[in-house]
Amino acid sequence: MTLSSTVSVSLGERSYKILIQAGLLTRLEGRLSELGVKGKAGIVTDRHVARHYLGGVLRQLKQCGIDAVPIVLPPGEQSKTLDAIKRILDVLARHRFERSSFLFALGGGVVGDITGFAAAIYQRGIPFIQIPTTLIAQSDSSVGGKTGVDHRLGKNLIGAFYQPKEVWIDPLTLRTLPRREWAAGLAEVIKYGIIADEKFFSYLERKMPGLLKRQPDIVAAAVKRSCEIKADVVTADERESDRRRILNYGHTIGHALETLGRYESLIHGEAVGIGLVQEADLACFLGICDQTVVQRIQAVVRTAGLPDRMPQWPSAKIWKAMLHDKKVSGGQVVGVWPEQIGQVRMMPIDEQTFRQWHRTAQRAASGKKPSGTRAAQRRR
Ligand SMILES: NC(=O)c1ccc[n+]([C@@H]2O[C@H](COP(=O)([O-])OP(=O)(O)OC[C@H]3O[C@@H](n4cnc5c(N)ncnc54)[C@H](O)[C@@H]3O)[C@@H](O)[C@H]2O)c1
Ligand SMILES: [Zn+2]
Repeated sequence: MTLSSTVSVSLGERSYKILIQAGLLTRLEGRLSELGVKGKAGIVTDRHVARHYLGGVLRQLKQCGIDAVPIVLPPGEQSKTLDAIKRILDVLARHRFERSSFLFALGGGVVGDITGFAAAIYQRGIPFIQIPTTLIAQSDSSVGGKTGVDHRLGKNLIGAFYQPKEVWIDPLTLRTLPRREWAAGLAEVIKYGIIADEKFFSYLERKMPGLLKRQPDIVAAAVKRSCEIKADVVTADERESDRRRILNYGHTIGHALETLGRYESLIHGEAVGIGLVQEADLACFLGICDQTVVQRIQAVVRTAGLPDRMPQWPSAKIWKAMLHDKKVSGGQVVGVWPEQIGQVRMMPIDEQTFRQWHRTAQRAASGKKPSGTRAAQRRR
């Protein structure tokens, strides 16, 4: 695996390239001139990322004669609001940005989602470039064109599909990522193995120690394969009418836990880590996969340093949070279930079945009774 590669996202006139190169962030000149970035450009970032990378990016833009305007937001999910969008739009309007002016998203998934949405709506759409700096953003959120912000009543409730002009991934930026954020990103990477590629999943099983040490070649390979799988899925279904929903694996339970923890007790990737394991367990309960699938997922999630157990919240509360999600259709929650590693199926689940599984799983977790398939439960 070289430390430099390109993944293409083929979406007709909205097609774009994902460049993965160690050190890319220090060599932007060629890309800027090839994409025709000139005049004014806005760089949206957050305070943490600004401390490490904003100065270098600003310097290069200025060297290329670009009038760069930094917009530094407070870090974290709390910034993913319409207020942040308003703040960005105010700056763009005040500096008289034009239809051809570029926006850069320099940061994690939060910065990427906010910036993409601002780019989508300022003058009905200006070009933007993703420069993701977290593992979640490099392996997942910077690709695919889902942009938006949260609403008091739900995560990602407001947004637009809007594709970037290019994605610039420099895996070296991951060296400054806090350990907790690193593990959180591994949850999304593991997800790709489960939904689409058994070979990749077993690579992750073998290489997890190297990934945890952030060995550049292994990191670049994991990011690249994740981007390829996401690009394939998005190409087949840009607007999530069907196949794209497989990307939600681990997120049905994951999002509910994230909401119930108020985005603090569990960060996104940690909630997804639990979701990956528990949704496999639920699939096993439904008779969709066998126990070895659950065990393999659980082992790799644990080795990644992620939580895998359900917090002690009542079933009714978790179900209610699941119903608030966008994956609901006609009052039923549409889940994504592994049939085996590398292959998933979509199927709705009702409240009664969910609660039955949850009771069984809680009992098994407290050591009172073994878990098992629903059929086995009935036989008992
Ligand atoms: N659009 C999509 O398809 C998609 C997919 C998955 C997740 N998301 C969204 O992404 C968000 C989560 O993304 P995230 O985990 O990247 O969160 P984040 O953007 O909040 O970043 C996490 C933390 O890491 C810091 N950080 C970022 N890069 C750093 C670096 N290189 N060095 C040091 N610190 C750094 C940030 O300041 C922040 O404190 C959620 O809002 C989620 O909904 C979107
Ligand atoms: Zn996610």
